[in-house]
Amino acid sequence: MSTNPTHRGFTSNIGAILAAAGGAVGLGNIWRFPYMLGQNGGGAFLLVYIIFVLLIGIPLMMTEFIIGRRSQRNVVGAYRALSGPRKGWVLLGIFGIVSAFLIYAFYSVVAGWTLNYIVMAAGGKLSGLDPAAVAQEFSFFTQGSFWPLFYQLLFLILTGAVITMGVQKGIENMAKILMPILFLLLLLMCVRSLTLSGSHEGLRFLFEPDFSKLTGKGVLSALGQSFFSLSIGMGAMITYGSYIRKEDRLFKTSIWIALCDLIVAILAGVVIFPAVFAFGMDPASGPELVYVVLPNVFNNMPAGALFAVLFFLLLGIAALTSTISLLEIIVAFAVEELQWKRSTASLVSTAVVFVVGALCTLSFGPLQNFKIVGYTIFDLFDLITASYLMPIGALLMTIFLGWFYPKVEVKDELSNHGTLKVKAFELYYFILRYVAPAALIVIIISGIVG
Ligand code: PFF
Repeated sequence: MSTNPTHRGFTSNIGAILAAAGGAVGLGNIWRFPYMLGQNGGGAFLLVYIIFVLLIGIPLMMTEFIIGRRSQRNVVGAYRALSGPRKGWVLLGIFGIVSAFLIYAFYSVVAGWTLNYIVMAAGGKLSGLDPAAVAQEFSFFTQGSFWPLFYQLLFLILTGAVITMGVQKGIENMAKILMPILFLLLLLMCVRSLTLSGSHEGLRFLFEPDFSKLTGKGVLSALGQSFFSLSIGMGAMITYGSYIRKEDRLFKTSIWIALCDLIVAILAGVVIFPAVFAFGMDPASGPELVYVVLPNVFNNMPAGALFAVLFFLLLGIAALTSTISLLEIIVAFAVEELQWKRSTASLVSTAVVFVVGALCTLSFGPLQNFKIVGYTIFDLFDLITASYLMPIGALLMTIFLGWFYPKVEVKDELSNHGTLKVKAFELYYFILRYVAPAALIVIIISGIVG
């Protein structure tokens, strides 16, 4: 495959791992995973989730990396470069750009909330409130217009600034700084949570599987969550894959990233559930778990005000490394396909995302009664992307690489042109051709049937 001269990638394997793990680790791990686990009965959900990450998540991440590194291009360019005369596959790349755009629009809303909560916690605004007042703060803030839009825009600007700095100086360096901080904060929070009296009940909830509490819908949510969490199905890992050095091992790199992502999700559970149980809160409270339940928990624990700031900082950092990966999908496309300057591409994409993202923000306030097929704009974007676009994108990708692209080429890329022994290649290829598409078809159909 010809290399693309305008394409400059990560400088080291650890840089690649941290950047991609940064893209994967995000609100999905610390906000979405705990509340889904809370709503789906705890330990059994975790077990099923782990199986999906190992069995399907890792192979699909490898698949994106293979497509990205083989082509050395953004998601649209990648499908164009690898599909030869069958031009239709380019549409799959465009599909990825659209998905990234929609995810970025609603994801930046919740990312913006973290900034507000960092400021509130640091200013002591959450301390001493009773549970009703904490809940009221949340509705008051999210239902407003100015502040949620302000913080969303701030988050978009922060992300745009990092992307403008480029792949090495922006994405890679940022990940090298932020990811260790994230792990450190998470470990600190774990220690705090585990040393609360009564924390064991939360651990039992998290780690003791009780399959009577897991429904078929719960299993599907676990599968959907694993895709969302690993950022699979819309080209984030294709884009980052194109920056991975030719000598790095894709198999090992994918395993590391998936493990990081899994560990962060589990540790987030270790932070949240012992504390929730220790203070008699409801683990099944849904999307508000982190923003409404946790501030109450912090209010009840020694040094809670400090830990509240640290927690929302952690959430903000996790969100930032993910929004960086979302914007990069779009900017890499604009730079490589449309020949825009990187700074122009990030500025224009940020502006456009803000216009659409603002509608998502306002759907908690002034637009809360504006519904399309029964959903607010925010919920609709969340539903369309996580339940349809990502699984459909992933399904078409497995068909492309597993059924259209020559097997020898796949093996050549995975084995670094035959210089590495890839023992599990046949297993990987079997999952790519059969297991992953079958699982994806089940998710898509069950999403449609409801
Ligand atoms: N994986 C991110 C999370 O768990 O928060 C969400 C995400 C980021 C999805 C980037 C898709 C993506 F391209």
